[in-house]
Amino acid sequence: MIIVKTEQEIDVLREPCAIVRDTLAYVGSLVRPGVTTQELNDRAEAYIRSRGAIPSCLGYCGYPAGICASVNEEVVHGIPGPRVLREGDIVSIDLCAYKNGFHGDGARTFAVGQVDEEKSKLIRVTEECFWKAVENLRAGTPLYDIGAAVQKHAEENGFSVVREYVGHGIGREMHEDPSVPNYGKRGTGVRLRAGTVLCIEPMILAGDRRVRVLADGWTAVTQDKRPAAHYENTLVVREDGVEILTL
Ligand code: MF3
Ligand code: CO
Repeated sequence: MIIVKTEQEIDVLREPCAIVRDTLAYVGSLVRPGVTTQELNDRAEAYIRSRGAIPSCLGYCGYPAGICASVNEEVVHGIPGPRVLREGDIVSIDLCAYKNGFHGDGARTFAVGQVDEEKSKLIRVTEECFWKAVENLRAGTPLYDIGAAVQKHAEENGFSVVREYVGHGIGREMHEDPSVPNYGKRGTGVRLRAGTVLCIEPMILAGDRRVRVLADGWTAVTQDKRPAAHYENTLVVREDGVEILTL
C-alpha cells in the first residue's frame, strides 16, 4: 500500500533529506587517494549525529555500518572497512538519515582522482538516468515509466541495469511501497499520486547485468567485475512535476 504524505509530513521529511544531501557532499569532499572507506563511514556517521539525526542504515536488517561504500565492481551495500581508495577507483556512497520520525535516503558515485573514460562516462550516465526518470514524472505518471526511462538511457549508452535491487517509497520506514525498478515497460504500473515520496536510484553497470553477493552477506558485485555506479535522491511527486528533497 502506497502511503501518500501530507504537506505537514513532507515538511518534517525536509530535514532528514537535507542532512542526507549535506552528508553526501561532505563525504564527497573527503574522497581522495589514501582514504579508507572506514574513515568515510566514521566521518559521515559523526556528521549525521552532529545534525541530531541517526544514520539509519546502521543495524537495518543487521547491516553493520552507518553508510554503504561500494568500490568499482561493487554495486551496492559495500561495507566500509580498511580498504584504501586509490587513484582511478570510483566509490558509491549510499546513506540514510532518520530524524523526527522520518528517513531521508540518497547516493552518489565519486571518482577518486583521475578515472578512466569508461568510469567517468558510467558516473555521468547513471546521474543522467535519474534525470531522464524524473523529466516526465508528475501526478498520474505510471510507476514503471520511471524504470523504462532509466533502462532506455542506460542501454542506449551500452550499459546495463541491475534487476535485483530497486528504488522504493520512503517515509516513517526506510523502505515503503512501491518498489521502483530501474527497468520496465512504459505506460504500465499504478498511476502515482501527488504526495507520494520515492527514492529513485539508478544502479548502472558498465558490463553485463548479472550480480552476486559476497560472503559478507551484503556486498553486491558485478559477476564480470566491471564497474558499477549508483545515484539516488528522495523526491515528492507533485501535480506538475517533482520536488527533490536531497539536492
Ligand atoms: N540506502 C539504501 C537504499 O537505497 C539501503 C541500504 S541497505 C542498508 O535503499 F542495510 F544498508 F541500510
Ligand atoms: Co534507497
